[in-house]
Amino acid sequence: MNSLQQTLILPLFLAIFLTAPVSAADSAAGEQKSEPCANCHGQKGNSSNAQWPNLAAQQSTYLANQLKAFKAGDRINVIMNSMTANLSNEDITNLAAFFSSQKPVKTSSADPALAKSGEAKAGMCLGCHGATAQGNGQFPRLAGQHPKYLVQQLKAFKEGSRKSGPMQAITANLPEADFKALAAYFGSL
Ligand code: HEC
Ligand code: HEC
Repeated sequence: MNSLQQTLILPLFLAIFLTAPVSAADSAAGEQKSEPCANCHGQKGNSSNAQWPNLAAQQSTYLANQLKAFKAGDRINVIMNSMTANLSNEDITNLAAFFSSQKPVKTSSADPALAKSGEAKAGMCLGCHGATAQGNGQFPRLAGQHPKYLVQQLKAFKEGSRKSGPMQAITANLPEADFKALAAYFGSL
């Protein structure tokens, strides 16, 4: 191979390599698998019941991480541990692609005064959860999530029943009295 051929071929290889999809997530296959999920998480991941978190527009990396954690028993919830038991890695990637691409619908309302006091405390959360709490990769979207669900999760991190390095440390230093205000603020976004 002469040097001219090399200079032509190398960029071609790089172009092919760089444009190859990292994982072939199939949102349509995810939608098919999502039928049983709709019973609790609502049509297209917008849940009308505060016990069941919204999944629509949630970060796909975060969704996949949680489904794997439920399946492995690292995150404990009787319902979700059984719902994920028979999901393959491919199912998980596809479900995450489907839910993350759905439009969020406002499903809950928060007390405006409580939300306002939460806003004043929320600055320290935005570095990881995003300027509008839209999430990013492994950091979940909190915007529009049911406040009751958010409070439950903050309590679980503080008690240690839900494990996560950053959130256990953060909630350890956060008075429980602030949980409701923060949750009301993020739920209102
Ligand atoms: C019978 C009700 C029910 C069904 C059916 C169900 N879930 Fe869940 N799901 C829950 C509950 C309750 C939680 C909250 C668990 C907790 O408190 O930790 C949850 C949590 C989750 C979470 C974590 C969300 C977050 O913000 O951390 C994901 C992801 C999830 N479910 C995906 C699914 C998928 C995908 C399906 C279908 C394969 C499904 N669920 C079916 C009840 C259900
Ligand atoms: C250093 C980065 C970081 C900061 C700062 C941070 N978080 Fe988190 N948070 C995370 C990560 C990472 C997760 C996902 C944990 C997991 O994978 O289980 C998370 C998860 C959560 C969840 C669970 C969401 C769900 O859908 O179940 C809540 C609620 C939450 N954070 C609230 C907050 C609040 C409120 C603050 C500010 C007081 C905050 N976080 C600050 C990194 C951070």
